[in-house]
Amino acid sequence: MMQSYKYAVLGNPIEHSLSPVLHEAGYRAIGLDASYERIKVTKETLPATVQNLVEQKFNGWNVTYPLKGEIIQYLDEIDPRARLLGAVNTVKVSGKRLLGYNTDGPGLIRGLTSQGFSTKDKKVTIFGAGGAAKAVALALAETGAKVTVINRSFEKAQNLVELLLAQGYEAATLAIGQTTGNRLLTQCLAGTDIVVQATSVGLEKEKYPYPLHGLRAGTVAIDLIYNPPKTDFMIKSHLQGCEVLNGLSMLLYQGVLAWEIWLDACAPVSEMKTALYQSSIP
Ligand code: ATR
Repeated sequence: MMQSYKYAVLGNPIEHSLSPVLHEAGYRAIGLDASYERIKVTKETLPATVQNLVEQKFNGWNVTYPLKGEIIQYLDEIDPRARLLGAVNTVKVSGKRLLGYNTDGPGLIRGLTSQGFSTKDKKVTIFGAGGAAKAVALALAETGAKVTVINRSFEKAQNLVELLLAQGYEAATLAIGQTTGNRLLTQCLAGTDIVVQATSVGLEKEKYPYPLHGLRAGTVAIDLIYNPPKTDFMIKSHLQGCEVLNGLSMLLYQGVLAWEIWLDACAPVSEMKTALYQSSIP
């Protein structure tokens, strides 16, 4: 008898998650009898949900906002990089044990390499120091990038840089003051190979708060936001001559990497990609 596999994504809000689209396309591509559902879960309902998923013999699940940190207390083993980030986005059920991983940062890297961009020895500027920025900063540093973190709250940028330095990576921050800020930022962007927009600015179609005129033609500019598909940051970077990407590729590859953790096999990437990109066309 063919075994049927059960997966899910937990979060709140969750109704617009595109994860089922990409995973189900993958199951169809290889004829795997598997399901992937969205489950609305809050911090309060998380413990009962985890117990339920285990009882119902789910094979694994993804975790998204606001549960990536919260889930950790219910797991038996945490991958070292997920532990360092304090955030898990992928849980695998292995016998009676729940194992936690974080595929967000590696998802960004795999998206970049799949498009022919290398990050080794590259100068990378990251805007933001929240959960998303932390995940990509660590993954970029792991691949040998030299990271500069810029954040509205300077202290959070400093904390992220300290985390990277403590791991032995090259990292710095930039104090964006009222008068000196723009000049320093312009200089920094002029020497940047890759710039990553990891703040939440743009989700509500806001204007980008940081001046981007220092960016050079040829620099790769990535916005982690994928909905809306084009942000003010992307438009301004494009005007500077940058190669511009949104966050869809990171979304795709964090899912691909979760699939590979769950099934111990290569994922059917092209089918997953086609389904995701078609479903996200506004
Ligand atoms: P996520 O998990 O998506 O990274 P988060 O942890 O809430 O979300 O982080 C949001 C990031 O966007 C933070 O870096 C935040 O800056 P602060 O640390 O100073 O709060 C940044 N951000 C949000 N609104 C911003 C704005 N109007 N201007 C500049 N940065 C902003």
